[in-house]
Amino acid sequence: MTSTAMSTSMPLPLLVLGAGTDLHTERGVECPGELPPPSDPALVERARAAKAALGDRVFVLGHHYQRNEVIEFADVTGDSFKLAKEAAARPDAPWIVFCGVHFMAESADILTSDQQTVILPDLAAGCSMADMAAIHQVEDAWDDLVEAGVAQDTIPVTYMNSSAAIKAFTGRHGGTICTSSNAKTALSWALEQGSKVLFLPDQHLGRNTYVRDLGGSLEDCVVFDPHRPMGGLTIEQIQSARMILWRGHCSVHGRFTVDAVETARREIPGVRVIVHPECRYEVVELADEVGSTEKIVKTIAAAPAGTKWVVGTELNLVKRLAEQFPDQQVSFLEKNVCYCSTMNRIDLPHLVWALESLVEGRVVNPIRVDDQVAHYARVALDQMLALPGETHKD
Ligand code: 13P
Ligand code: SF4
Repeated sequence: MTSTAMSTSMPLPLLVLGAGTDLHTERGVECPGELPPPSDPALVERARAAKAALGDRVFVLGHHYQRNEVIEFADVTGDSFKLAKEAAARPDAPWIVFCGVHFMAESADILTSDQQTVILPDLAAGCSMADMAAIHQVEDAWDDLVEAGVAQDTIPVTYMNSSAAIKAFTGRHGGTICTSSNAKTALSWALEQGSKVLFLPDQHLGRNTYVRDLGGSLEDCVVFDPHRPMGGLTIEQIQSARMILWRGHCSVHGRFTVDAVETARREIPGVRVIVHPECRYEVVELADEVGSTEKIVKTIAAAPAGTKWVVGTELNLVKRLAEQFPDQQVSFLEKNVCYCSTMNRIDLPHLVWALESLVEGRVVNPIRVDDQVAHYARVALDQMLALPGETHKD
């Protein structure tokens, strides 16, 4: 069918955000309850009171990209790996309030017991990168690998930033989950199990880890575009590649540029550049340090006074680091990059609403992963936790 024929016979539905036309895909456009207004001067007091009333029954996890107003109420802060482990380590808390994004809350649900409930204060806190790989696309891609005769030698390595369904796919196919803090270990494990890796969904983390951390060649990498037949590749390209990188990226980290690194080096003599591995290869190549959000925090915390940094990661974290370490000079790498809008969905009104609802005996926004999906997703998450020498690394 030509595209003209398609547009006359099958008009594309226009989904107006908030109209509730497709609640399944537009997660969280509805907020079932009365949110306190952001202008309420008593919000901080209300959050404190609700948290005190709940005591040990609630445990609040806060990802490093959360706003200060939210981080203030987190019992623990961390990167996605640390938070997953922290969630699993709290079997006595019936409620885990996850201040982060949807895939993190799903992973926490998978790793906690059936008696515990994970709550995401705003269901619209998704992740644009995770949304770049849908399970039907991944299943179709696997069929392509079967057709190319390489599926049996291919191990899926899936970044934590993915839906539970894709984690389950990974578990069913003998793969592992990884995070930015253990991607090197995960990838070298996978390359010992099979001759190829299908790396989902962040092409940059996959490429950076393979080339920069494991000394692989860029020539061994191909990018699989889920919107094109056979990923836009020939069968020969698929057969000769070692790393099949899914065409996904982070819409925040993808915006940091080589130009910004060069400008910082020119304008701030002696500056050290530290970036997250979701940044593009050319940017990571120019950095002095690369690592997960937890590594970025620890590296700056350990640096001597007077160190000058430019940091290529989300703005909430960079601003907080600048405030926390005033004896160092911490600046943001790129003036044209803004907050992660989905991380920012969690604000104090949503947190107060979630906590006060619990005090009233109502659980709002529970994250529940289907049992079948959770089973295989857990296989892949457990494989990550069982990686050689795996403890929390940065
Ligand atoms: P970390 O695991 O490093 O916290 O990264 C999560 C993330 O979403 C970065 O964009
Ligand atoms: Fe997703 Fe990027 Fe936001 Fe991280 S910063 S949660 S990868 S959109």
